[in-house]
Amino acid sequence: MGNLVIEKLSKEFKKEKDKFPTLKDIDLAVKNGEFVTILGPSGCGKTTLLRIIAGLETYSSGTAILDDELITSPSPKRGMVFQEYSLFPWKTVLGNVMFGPVMRGVSKTDAEAKAIAYLDLVGLSDFKHSYPYELSGGMKQRVAIARALANEPEIILMDEPFGALDAQTRNNLQNELLRIWQEEKKTIIFVTHSVDEAVFLSDRIVIFSKRPGTVKKIVEVSIPRPRDRTRPEENAIRNEVLRLLDSNENAKID
Ligand SMILES: Nc1ncnc2c1ncn2[C@@H]1O[C@H](COP(=O)(O)OP(=O)(O)O)[C@@H](O)[C@H]1O
Ligand SMILES: [Mg+2]
Repeated sequence: MGNLVIEKLSKEFKKEKDKFPTLKDIDLAVKNGEFVTILGPSGCGKTTLLRIIAGLETYSSGTAILDDELITSPSPKRGMVFQEYSLFPWKTVLGNVMFGPVMRGVSKTDAEAKAIAYLDLVGLSDFKHSYPYELSGGMKQRVAIARALANEPEIILMDEPFGALDAQTRNNLQNELLRIWQEEKKTIIFVTHSVDEAVFLSDRIVIFSKRPGTVKKIVEVSIPRPRDRTRPEENAIRNEVLRLLDSNENAKID
């Protein structure tokens, strides 16, 4: 479970008679339990690819298959965490995390128990009766992670989830996410524009070309965890990735 296979996937957006090729011939296989990061210039189709995997966007050709099932629509098996805090402002933290299971027909009692367990996992069970406006940015993203996990997805898709956080909070959440990933053994596809974050987190880094996005290179990060940003090993990979992004025909990373 949690095996994603994308083959020859292309996407073009149509606007009146014009076509805007956005993704071209993407081949990407992500194994169960793997942590894969996508890096690439602004507008190269990273969000579009995540939305396609989530089933929120159609594709023009090729295939996207999760565990032998062709992706054609959204499913609780594929959870998404966005950069902007996408919590329901009128629901409490507990209400937000329970929402998915309740929608899937889980009884209120079971959904609440499940939500509390995941809030525990992200260290927020004491805040279960708080509303989103009472939380810091980092806490809101923890709730968003708990909410995604409460649906018991096979794969979690994260679109620059820590992009709006200060450096200290971001580092804390990176460590938290790795701990959760190791405990829950979920497949994670993580989009970021931070090379440092990609090297710190991932098993593999997929580097996209500018639009129409193609897979330019996949860099394996075989450094054991916990990683240390100050070591030469991490630095060497960061430099390799930066070189690959720089050679992106002067494309600017966002
Ligand atoms: N719904 C849409 N309709 C038309 N064009 C879109 C739509 N969504 C994204 N695009 C275009 O597709 C390209 C890729 O966008 P996106 O996937 O958001 O890139 P990234 O996340 O890599 O910055 C951009 O040129 C964007 O304007
Ligand atoms: Mg994006």
